[in-house]
Amino acid sequence: MENPRIPLRHYYNCMALAAPRLYPYADTTVLAQIGNTPLLHLRKLTANLPGVEIYAKAESFNPGGSVKDRPALNMILDGERTGKLNHQRVILDATSGNTGIAYAMIGAARGYKVKLCLPSNASPERRQILRAYGASLILTDPGQGTDGAIRRCREIYESDPDHYFYPDQYSNPANWKAHFESTAVEIMEQTGRRLTHFVAGLGTSGTFVGVTRRLRRDLPHVKCYSMQPATPFHGLEGLKHMATAMVPAIYDPSIAEGNFEVETEQAYHMVKRLAREEGILAGISAGANLAASLALGERLAAAGEPALIVTVICDGAEKYLSEEFWNDPD
Ligand SMILES: Cc1ncc(COP(=O)(O)O)c(C=O)c1O
Repeated sequence: MENPRIPLRHYYNCMALAAPRLYPYADTTVLAQIGNTPLLHLRKLTANLPGVEIYAKAESFNPGGSVKDRPALNMILDGERTGKLNHQRVILDATSGNTGIAYAMIGAARGYKVKLCLPSNASPERRQILRAYGASLILTDPGQGTDGAIRRCREIYESDPDHYFYPDQYSNPANWKAHFESTAVEIMEQTGRRLTHFVAGLGTSGTFVGVTRRLRRDLPHVKCYSMQPATPFHGLEGLKHMATAMVPAIYDPSIAEGNFEVETEQAYHMVKRLAREEGILAGISAGANLAASLALGERLAAAGEPALIVTVICDGAEKYLSEEFWNDPD
């Protein structure tokens, strides 16, 4: 679809670039639908920011409903290529939910059993989706968050390593490489390489590290900002407060231009604004990404610096509809 602010020739340039796909087009399984998500222009939320455009990569359009379809697929394909994954092994990992949903979907489509460790306070909708795909769940201490799930997962793996394929999304380079090879390339194409800033929250850090490394290589003038929860105990599901969490091995803080801290309430507020002003039902971490992007946009507008900021809608709102904040007064 044509965006009036991006000249048409950019689309032709983009077509010449053609984003590589993680999975072959010719495949007719649901997995061929992973990637090539839309880039949405948030016009209303930026109406008071002269010269600043904000676009959001709508990863909720992936078939598993989140950004994690990309790394999960890449890690599984990598496991198959290296021989670490075969049909005698069970896919095992710790996940706050979305990577698990992606593993469960891909496992079902490619004929693997999937076992997941996740904190017992993961939303009921998430657990229901995982069970619907046929995954078996090990629920861990909610007080220990995803770190508790990681510890339990390691124990299970070490008790019988030959029985499992343990991709370990926190340490696996195929996680960030999925974004290096696909997400970043799509963003460059969809903006006609006009983007000036990129903002993404840190969970495993795969999205931020992969996209940032590619932009640094191909468009080195683009400034990339990470975002984290402002406090250790937060409601930003999928994100880590790095100062107090187990730091993922793939995380590289040195590549960030800067970091934004976002409170859970700010994210809730932005989720509602996205729904009510832009018609986009997004998850909580997407609200946090947007809060950080708007803070950056306000800073740039005040300095009179034109900008095209790209951020990520990591998932949709479906899994969070039972949360109380929807009923809170604005
Ligand atoms: C909803 C949500 N947002 C953000 C993230 C963070 O993405 P990444 O792991 O690539 O840092 C995740 C990761 O699981 C997530 O589930």
